[in-house]
Amino acid sequence: MTSQAGSPLAKAARAEPSAHDPVWDAEPAAHHPVRAEPARPGDLGAVEALARALVPGAGVPRLRDAWVARAADAVVGYLDVRRISDEAHVLAVGVDPAHRRRGVATRLLSAALADVQIVHLEVRVSNLPARRLYAVLGFEEVGVRSGYYADGEDAVLLTRRAA
Ligand SMILES: CC(C)(COP(=O)(O)OP(=O)(O)OC[C@H]1O[C@@H](n2cnc3c(N)ncnc32)[C@H](O)[C@@H]1OP(=O)(O)O)[C@@H](O)C(=O)NCCC(=O)NCCS
Repeated sequence: MTSQAGSPLAKAARAEPSAHDPVWDAEPAAHHPVRAEPARPGDLGAVEALARALVPGAGVPRLRDAWVARAADAVVGYLDVRRISDEAHVLAVGVDPAHRRRGVATRLLSAALADVQIVHLEVRVSNLPARRLYAVLGFEEVGVRSGYYADGEDAVLLTRRAA
């Protein structure tokens, strides 16, 4: 069996109680304890509102394999991902601006993808914060898809393989 013990995602996951726990706690700021957990059907409205606020014209997340970051009762981040066996395709990740740079996206990705062997995603070439986030988590830029987005911007293709 392939091991990914040394991967950045695995290391990030090990820094928290357990990425395999269905629900776990993180504390990115003392006044904002945040839980990362699989999305529930009742989260759809909050995730949709957050997605539309962050990315105008964004599609409605499907939530089948999605995770959310919750501060008290508020959804402050989401990860929309399609999983097929031990592969995953990240469709979207977003964090409320008031909760950024506190590790929320890192924790969502680490928890949701810790047991995945191969992860694929696309990101706008201009989205330098997201490209930095993915680089820190061990994703490699493997190509460019020209004119991928509706406005004509190119997408960078990224892959993370378990070590
Ligand atoms: C990209 C995004 C999801 C990051 O969420 P986040 O919770 O702030 O990310 P994290 O706190 O986990 O950041 C982890 C690391 O990524 C990098 N990073 C994240 N945001 C960054 C920024 N604005 N500028 C530079 N590096 C950044 C840093 O290395 C950061 O570590 P550090 O804070 O210790 O320096 C968030 O900015 C967002 O929602 N953007 C709008 C939606 C979007 O573009 N989504 C991605 C494409 S689908």
